Amino acid sequence: MAAIEPIDIVELGVDDARAGLTLSAEAGWNQNEADWRFFLSKGAVFGLREGDRLVASAALLPYSAGNAWISMVLVTADFRRRGIATKLVDACLDLAKRRGLTTWLDATPAGATVYGPLGFVPTLQLRRLRLQKPQAATATRPLSAGNLDGLAARDGSAMGFDRSTLLSEFSARPGSRIVSDDRAVALVRNGRTARHIGPLLADRANQALALVDAIVHSETGPWLIDAVHSQEQFLNGLVQSGWNIERPFQRMRFGRLTAPPAQLPFAVAGPEFG
Ligand SMILES: CC(C)(COP(=O)(O)OP(=O)(O)OC[C@H]1O[C@@H](n2cnc3c(N)ncnc32)[C@H](O)[C@@H]1OP(=O)(O)O)[C@@H](O)C(=O)NCCC(=O)NCCS
Repeated sequence: MAAIEPIDIVELGVDDARAGLTLSAEAGWNQNEADWRFFLSKGAVFGLREGDRLVASAALLPYSAGNAWISMVLVTADFRRRGIATKLVDACLDLAKRRGLTTWLDATPAGATVYGPLGFVPTLQLRRLRLQKPQAATATRPLSAGNLDGLAARDGSAMGFDRSTLLSEFSARPGSRIVSDDRAVALVRNGRTARHIGPLLADRANQALALVDAIVHSETGPWLIDAVHSQEQFLNGLVQSGWNIERPFQRMRFGRLTAPPAQLPFAVAGPEFG
């Protein structure tokens, strides 16, 4: 449907966290209020209101070394196909351009139809998987507490830029923990409907799988994980141990690559954070 009236975009503030959560919950997403507060306090979130109701959003979250993530692109069902998402992503891109930032995002199939025409190019692919209940435990190794500096250093080399601020905020939330086992490390945190595992970094797939297995046998789920599609052995291992693939995400980039990632993660921090 073509736009029939002007779209008045506003910048949202931390007080909009609850309204943002209503939008992401409508789409069935896993973000909680703490996630919205992070975007609203550390990033720029644009939105559209109809009266008191927030009907659409898009966030730009600056990271380091000239990179930023676009996410939370949401339009409530009865406002779709009026060009609103395009306009909101344009607002994020304008700001990124003014700040000289390369922007990244992880697109749902519906989102990719909006971003492709704007000039985003595809990079890697992700698969979101859900586990309701783990299969019976075999011999699971004990988990140790991992440390934030170690996680941030490995995450930085996997992304090509530092995300200590994000990981430090995640790890300070109630219910979060950094766990490690052998040569693998991961962050586990609460979401609206499920515990989320990621980022997860390891030298080899068997280490990453053993860590996931130990996590799911050490606490109550359900769980979500966003696995890198090209980590085939890891992805297949998850499916064999009962995880279900829910949906694909396409990572896309707008602008030049600042620093190439050194080592692929096994699972990412989430499509909304990269
Ligand atoms: C994806 C979403 C944000 C699109 O919002 P929107 O305001 O309807 O998007 P726009 O009106 O700007 O669409 C621009 C173009 O993208 C394409 N497009 C958008 N939604 C589409 C769909 N469901 N199917 C096919 N093409 C679509 C069309 O080419 C559209 O142009 P047109 O309407 O002139 O044909 C919205 O459907 C939504 O909130 N979905 C659920 C959450 C989600 O997946 N968000 C994206 C996260 S990456």
